[in-house]
Amino acid sequence: MSTHEKETFLQAYNWVESWQTLPWAHDEPTLFLAHVCSRKKPGTALDIGCGAGTDSVFLAKQGWEVTSLDFIPKALEYTVQRASAAGVSVTPVEADITAWEPPQQYDLVLDHGLLHNLDVVRYPAYRDSVLKALAVTGEFVLLHWHPLFAGQDQGEVGPTRSSREQIKAFFAPDLQERFFAREEFEDLPATVGRGMTQAYYLFRPNLAEAKPAELIAQITTALTDHAIDADAALGADKLPTDVSDELLACIVGPGRLGITHRVPAAEDARAVLTAWAERHGLDAGAVALLIHLLASGQQGNICTEEPKCSECAVKFCKRLRYR
Ligand SMILES: C[S@@+](CC[C@H](N)C(=O)[O-])C[C@H]1O[C@@H](n2cnc3c(N)ncnc32)[C@H](O)[C@@H]1O
Ligand code: SF4
Repeated sequence: MSTHEKETFLQAYNWVESWQTLPWAHDEPTLFLAHVCSRKKPGTALDIGCGAGTDSVFLAKQGWEVTSLDFIPKALEYTVQRASAAGVSVTPVEADITAWEPPQQYDLVLDHGLLHNLDVVRYPAYRDSVLKALAVTGEFVLLHWHPLFAGQDQGEVGPTRSSREQIKAFFAPDLQERFFAREEFEDLPATVGRGMTQAYYLFRPNLAEAKPAELIAQITTALTDHAIDADAALGADKLPTDVSDELLACIVGPGRLGITHRVPAAEDARAVLTAWAERHGLDAGAVALLIHLLASGQQGNICTEEPKCSECAVKFCKRLRYR
């Protein structure tokens, strides 16, 4: 498949005499990637849009089993040569990420600079590929340009600047942002808009979305641990009355259960919970009751305004960020 993006990148690779003269060349991984890797045991990694391979080679040297994907053969040649010079190996894949079927799932998926060069018509296909490629316990590291200031011009050749909200909404509800960092660049060529904020994201699969029944089972266990018989309570037709819509909105939001990627307006919290339950074929009334029991000061007395996380069995909760 040829696209206008591919033609543009082909010209760039044909024009340069060495990988060092590529406009995006960097010979060290970003501090962000190095930091993410420093706290992970090496596993399988997929570097999408690997370019000249700096990140692929870095990961392989750290012990990762790396698949390096790019749609430009010259990029893969540079990557394989540099890996071999460093005494490591990577698996090169020549493919367009938007038309690629991942043969397996990876513990780490990395995109340093591909998505922000993609035509928006291919965003849904890109998103599908990333979701298929990422293991449920995996992490997705994305470097994407962000505007330096509101309304910033992106120059003749971009890349596209997207706000943090746009990126989070794009991957929601399947992926949830777990970390965000930014670095400002103010002196770039006019063709790429003179400046930008480089945004670094760490996403993980949202377990409320990937394993909803397990989340409900964890809530039930938390209630049982607090002597609430959830089965008996499910016979009740009334919800506890001391759970405010504000608290419910906080519980379904990204800081706790992660049913949504942003805290909804208080008046929308119940509808958000119902939509989530129905999307996953769960009984919306039963789900609402369990969460109200968890949140009620007179019932479970667990996930209240001052949550008792140390006594709670909800392992998927995002409040316990490093669990
Ligand atoms: C800006 S470069 C970044 C390269 C590298 N990740 C780095 O950090 O130096 C983007 C790379 O993505 C590749 N690319 C762009 N769109 C792609 C697509 N749809 N499928 C596969 N590769 C793509 C380009 O060929 C290029 O090598
Ligand atoms: S871990 Fe804390 S915030 Fe999360 S559901 Fe349990 S009590 Fe609520």
